[in-house]
Amino acid sequence: MMDLGLANKIGIVVAASKGLGKAVAFRFAREGMRVAICARDESVLRATAQEISSLTHTEVLPIRADVTRSDDIKNLVAETVKRFGGIDVLVTNAGGPPPGNFFAFDDSAWEQAFYLTFMSVVRLCREAIPHMQKRGAGRIINIASVSVKQPIENLILSNSLRLAVVGLAKSLANELAPWKITVNTVCPGPTQTERMEQLLRASGDIEEARRFWTKDIPMGRMGKPEELADLVAFLASENARYITGTVIQVDGGLVKGIF
Ligand SMILES: NC(=O)c1ccc[n+]([C@@H]2O[C@H](COP(=O)([O-])OP(=O)(O)OC[C@H]3O[C@@H](n4cnc5c(N)ncnc54)[C@H](OP(=O)(O)O)[C@@H]3O)[C@@H](O)[C@H]2O)c1
Repeated sequence: MMDLGLANKIGIVVAASKGLGKAVAFRFAREGMRVAICARDESVLRATAQEISSLTHTEVLPIRADVTRSDDIKNLVAETVKRFGGIDVLVTNAGGPPPGNFFAFDDSAWEQAFYLTFMSVVRLCREAIPHMQKRGAGRIINIASVSVKQPIENLILSNSLRLAVVGLAKSLANELAPWKITVNTVCPGPTQTERMEQLLRASGDIEEARRFWTKDIPMGRMGKPEELADLVAFLASENARYITGTVIQVDGGLVKGIF
């Protein structure tokens, strides 16, 4: 296995009590990183921190935070720095905006999705970047969706607002290169998280629903959270120092376009 050289690095993985964020936090901890994780439900968050910590024998710091709230983000970054002494890696993430087509959403729904999906990334970067600049290096990795490469039916909020994250990331990649801070965006396709299992169960016929989700995936199956985490860990490593401004899907070939 490639040594990623991540031992003792400090990471914040946002929205990480479950699903993709949890898989990334777990992977970082396995690499010997000290990791802060956040989510809104404190009891689930604490249980996750405890689980990762006991399986990896590393310190995982749970900090309750709602990423739609500016004060919570400031507190998340400040508490991480207070505890661990700095930040090397920031992984931005949040729950997905609700499904629906154009006429399903009024101004207030768009505004909420803006704060959840886009403004959370702006605020996390604003708080974390000065700490990376102080260390003379850093990694920002945004978890987005294949919706930034190919719009997904009935997900207009994600299709629209996640592209703002990509624009921000590409601009920041240019601005932050002198400090050796890289900024990349990863795009999961349908991935087998607990949330996805719930969606499949809620649809009634699980096997039919699974066929629907996988019919356009050349690999013939959904992704596993750890397959996204593998890419995030590589992008976080020293080996990925020359990779910045990219948008990379982990989707078993789902996206049909070339770029
Ligand atoms: N799984 C997929 O197939 C897939 C595919 C493409 C894109 N994505 C996107 O990837 C992201 C993560 O998906 P997932 O499948 O890992 O979801 P998940 O299993 O539902 O987990 C979401 C995590 O985010 C936390 N969270 C949600 N809203 C938050 C908020 N406002 N502030 C802080 N934490 C928050 C949740 O904890 P609390 O509820 O306690 O806050 C939970 O820990 C989503 O944006 C999703 O749309 C997922």
